Parts: sequence; C-alpha cells; structure tokens
Amino acid sequence: MTAPLRLGIAGLGTVGTGVVKIVRQKAALLAARTGRHIEVTAVSARTRDKDRGVNLSSYAWEDDPVALARREDVDIFVELMGGSDGPAKAATEAAIAAGKDVVTANKAMLAVHGQALAELAEEAGRVLRFEAAVAGGIPVVKALTEGLAGNEISRVLGVMNGSCNYILTRMENAGLSYEEVFAEADGLGYLEADPQLDVGGIDAAHKLALLSSIAFGTQVAFDNVQLEGIERVAIEDIRQAADMGYRIKLLGVTQMTQRGLVQRMSPCLVPADSPLGQLEGGTNMVVLEGDAVGQVVLRGAGAGEGPTASAVLSDIADIARGTRIATFGLPARMLKSAPAARSSVPAPYYLRISLQDKPGALAKVATALGDAGVSIDRMRQYSHEEPTAPVLIVTHTTTRDALDHALNQLPDTGVLSGEPVALRIEHV
Ligand code: NAP
Ligand code: HSE
Repeated sequence: MTAPLRLGIAGLGTVGTGVVKIVRQKAALLAARTGRHIEVTAVSARTRDKDRGVNLSSYAWEDDPVALARREDVDIFVELMGGSDGPAKAATEAAIAAGKDVVTANKAMLAVHGQALAELAEEAGRVLRFEAAVAGGIPVVKALTEGLAGNEISRVLGVMNGSCNYILTRMENAGLSYEEVFAEADGLGYLEADPQLDVGGIDAAHKLALLSSIAFGTQVAFDNVQLEGIERVAIEDIRQAADMGYRIKLLGVTQMTQRGLVQRMSPCLVPADSPLGQLEGGTNMVVLEGDAVGQVVLRGAGAGEGPTASAVLSDIADIARGTRIATFGLPARMLKSAPAARSSVPAPYYLRISLQDKPGALAKVATALGDAGVSIDRMRQYSHEEPTAPVLIVTHTTTRDALDHALNQLPDTGVLSGEPVALRIEHV
C-alpha cells in the first residue's frame, strides 16, 4: 500500500466532526476501497477546548486555518468552516498555493468564487472538489460529472433546501401558517444561523448555480439565478394547490435554452403524484435529464452530520484512488460564460385573485388576461364571505412576460381586493 493520505480539517462543527468519525470508524474499509490508508493529521476550529464529542488529542492543532492549510504533513485540505469569504477562502487559496488538493462543503464560497478557485487549482495542478456542497448526502456532483458524462444535459431541477421543504410540508400536513411553522423550525434548530439563507432561497440558489456549471459547461453565475423565497407562500395557496392535485415546493430549475441559461429558484406547483410532489420533510431530491439516459431521480438527506460527511468522504476517496476530476467537470478555462436568459421557458401558472364580490368583476379579470394573450385553462370561485370573492385560475402555457403584463393591468380594473398570487406550474 502507498503512503497514507493525510487530511488537515478546518472546521469541527456538524460536518467536520462527522468526517473525523467516519475516517476513524471506517479506516479499514476506506483503505481497502481506495488502496490508501486515510488519516487525519491536523485540525483547526475557532475554540480549542470545546467538547466536540470526539477525541482530537492525537491530531496537531492550529488556531489559524491558513497555517493548517500550509502544513507539510497535510495532503488534502478539508475546508468545513463555511462562509463565502474570510478564512474559508483565504485557507483554500493558501492550500492550493502550497500544493494541496482541497475538498470543501462550502457552496457559498464556490457560488461566488468557484470559477477563480477552480482556475487556481488547475494552474497549480491540484483538484478542488465539492460533492458535499450540493444536496448533502446525495452524490449528485458525481452523477453529473461521471455517471452522465455521455449525455447532453437538458434540464436539472429539484428541491435542494431541506429546511424549506420541511416548512412547506409541515404547513400542509398541520394546516399551519408560514409564520407558525417558521417559528417552530427555528426553535428546533432546523434553520441556518441566518434563516434568510434558507427561506430566502439563497442556500438553494448557491447549489443550483453549482449544478448549472457542471450540467452545461458554464462558469458559475450565482448572480443570474432568478430568486424568490418561500416567505410569501400562504397556507391558503397550499390548500388550493392540493385540492387541484399539486404541491408547492421551493423548486430549483436550470435549463439551457436558445435565449440563454435559465436558472430559477422559486416556489412552484408540481404534480402531487410526481416524485417531487411526494417529497416530505427535510429530504432533498434532484432530477437530472439527459438525452441518452432520460430522467434520473436522486433522493436523500440534504444535510446533517452523517450524510454530509459521507459526501466529503466520497471526494477524499476519489483523491486517494488517484481519480482527478476537474472541479466543474471540464477544465476551468473551457467553461463558457453563458448569457442569462431574459425570459423564462413558458409554463402554465396558478393564480389566486381576491375580487370584490360585485357584478362584472370576474369578466374584467378575464378580459385583462385575454388582452395580454394569457388563456385560461381552468377557473373556479370557491366558498367565501362577502365582500371578497377568491378566484383560482390555472392558465394555459404562457410566458412570464405576458402574465406580468396582465398582472400589471389588474389594479386598473378596480375590482381587486388584495394582491394577486401567481405561481408557476412546473411539469416534472
Ligand atoms: P458549523 O457546525 O457551524 O461548524 C463550523 C466550524 O467551523 C466550527 O467548528 C467553527 O469553530 C469553525 N470555524 C468557523 N470560523 C472559523 C475560523 N475563522 N477559524 C477556524 N475555524 C472556524 O458548520 P457545519 O454545519 O459543519 O458546516 C460546515 C460547512 O459545510 C459549511 O460550508 C456548510 O454550508 C456546509 N454544509 C453543511 C451541511 C450541514 O448539514 N451542516 C450540509 C451541507 C453543507 P468552532 O466550533 O470553534 O466555533
Ligand atoms: N440549510 C440547508 C438545508 C443545510 O436546509 O438544506 C444544507 O445545505
């Protein structure tokens, strides 16, 4: 067997301690599978004397993650601190400059600096890998870069934030409001320290931007993700969508079109009987569509100690075996800068419009939609108390521009009694 592969781990929180445990507990299995003994030599975190539920006394300690990244006895720098800039980026750059391979779970850093870091690693002849950064334990990066290497990818979509899926499914199952379930999830520690990263869709958009790059050979373009969080999803819409055979999900979709690259993270209706529609709780699901393979559905834990550490070990095992794959599947300098599509792929939409309950109100709405070229597929007015009449409309496939034009005209009808809700219906 060749020399041991030595890990320096910066960050000993949920994921870092999980990695330490697997490396210890599965030492023989990992050695047998990779042909190399894998060991931790040095670690770093903010607080040295914290009880982390794992014995770290045999590892060297560094207060400074940059110093850890430069250590002679470290072959792979494992970055598990988080944050798009600061110590995570400084230590990753230092590790590459010092000739180390890097494994990270840090989607925020890669969504912003992925292209530059991938170029840096390649220029230095090192690899930078990030399986754990997208959908936790689901091996979706590997599936795209390796398993589907013979495919033109047409679309990638999925539920990539477990906390949002927990909130939406809990709202539906318990009949609770967004505010009630948000407070519950926060109390249970399900949300990021900055909950906006979850409910604002930012965390999921980071992941989507990384998958776009691999799927379409494009430079990571997080700023081009059309982003809408789940804060405005009402229990009323969840109920009405369910009644029509749909579920509301925070859905990420990336698709290369003739108009450019579409990257969208927003609450959408999906058929309740589809795999995505049936996804409950904090689970993630990613759907990959390729020309040769058709559709592949991956489902699993998107977060947590074991699942995320499992993904980190997948990258470490690859490096141990000598498998050296470019960060985004193609040499970084071959990745193209893809223009962002200025308009979405046409789709049907769900509309909930609160009308004043008076003669001709519905006709005015129908006229505004018709004048904008938006055709109604289904419509119904459900039981209500005067003076407000709630109306549900499902449109035929239309463009977002046409729909927005109609929505902009609606206030002029003088018959609205609340702001209309418009949600895209995604065929999956
Ligand atoms: P965490 O529990 O908050 O742990 C972060 C660790 O980094 C802590 O040990 C902390 O030290 C250390 N740290 C923070 N700033 C540091 C600094 N300036 N110098 C040295 N150490 C520093 O975070 P986590 O949940 O393990 O997440 C780690 C990474 O994995 C993040 O990029 C996250 O997005 C990603 N990720 C997490 C999950 C998940 O399920 N948790 C899933 C997928 C991806 P102290 O312990 O001393 O404070
Ligand atoms: N907050 C994230 C989630 C953690 O809920 O999916 C994993 O990125």
